[in-house]
Amino acid sequence: MIILDEPSRRKLDVHHKFHHETESKGEEITMKAKNLLAKNLHEDARQVLFLLCDHWKMTTLEHAKEEENGWYQELADDEEVWPMMLGFRRDHYLLERFMTDLEAKLIEGESLVEVIMYADGFLKLLHYHNELEEKFLAQMEEETC
Ligand SMILES: [Fe+2]
Ligand SMILES: [Fe+2]
Repeated sequence: MIILDEPSRRKLDVHHKFHHETESKGEEITMKAKNLLAKNLHEDARQVLFLLCDHWKMTTLEHAKEEENGWYQELADDEEVWPMMLGFRRDHYLLERFMTDLEAKLIEGESLVEVIMYADGFLKLLHYHNELEEKFLAQMEEETC
């Protein structure tokens, strides 16, 4: 797993690599849980879904906190970009909500089919968020060239 320092978070290529690697790993774990569930291996699928929660919490949700305390914060006073920053923060909030609900459902022993729907939702939302963030970073790089 790569950890990004503040200057790297502002560089599109390094930031993209982080997004891509964490998304791919999350997708792989989600797929593993689906395959186990398809084979009726419920307990194994449940354990893999707990691993998925750990993965997202240690990578994406940590990354989101670092962004909010770093470059998002610094751009918050820029009138031209603050609506975008607000949108990014909203995405982070929704990702956090997805994770809270997903984990609660797992702990309460709810249907794994439903839990996987939340895992898919998390992945989709994260993908759109990363896409927009990278587009924004690309524009920033263009403007500073
Ligand atoms: Fe983000
Ligand atoms: Fe990011």
